[in-house]
Amino acid sequence: MASFDDFTNALDYPMYVVTASADGRPSGCLVGFASQCSINPPRFLVWLSKENHTTEVAARTDVLAVHLLGPDQQGLAALFGCLTADQGADKFASAPWQPGPGGAPVLCHVTAWFEGRIEQRFDGGDHVGHLLAPLESGGSASPARGQLTYSAVRNLEPGHPA
Ligand SMILES: Cc1cc2nc3c(=O)[nH]c(=O)nc-3n(C[C@H](O)[C@H](O)[C@H](O)COP(=O)(O)O)c2cc1C
Repeated sequence: MASFDDFTNALDYPMYVVTASADGRPSGCLVGFASQCSINPPRFLVWLSKENHTTEVAARTDVLAVHLLGPDQQGLAALFGCLTADQGADKFASAPWQPGPGGAPVLCHVTAWFEGRIEQRFDGGDHVGHLLAPLESGGSASPARGQLTYSAVRNLEPGHPA
């Protein structure tokens, strides 16, 4: 019988960069644990590790930005997934961005993005769930354009272990 690890290791979900800003300082990390979770009302759930700097910043704001990456954007994924602001990394120095309408940092070179208002937070174990109600969005996602998925980045070393 397959184990739970076998089950999760077989998954190949989209990867996102999730950003937040507090006190004028942008923060962001690579995220695989995320999904739409309601159609009406539209809702999206993002899980942020309790270890991440981004999670601490997300606790001090009401809005997150979620970015969908193109299939060839391993470099951007590595920037946000392997470096941590807890060790002084300034990820936004090498990733052009601008403040979104809701105040979250919006990356310029991504397939698509949306900002979401944090409606609820959930303790999920070693990650905190952030239930988002979509606000503004941009870019041009389409099935034909594709997206970066977990199988393309699974060998990256995360900035924080969990
Ligand atoms: C393939 C991969 C998937 C990841 N998935 C998540 C995730 O779902 N949630 C999360 O909070 N961190 C996830 N991370 C880890 C963070 O992106 C990473 O620890 C990052 O360096 C944290 O940066 P920060 O401390 O500046 O926020 C993932 C990393 C990698 C390489």
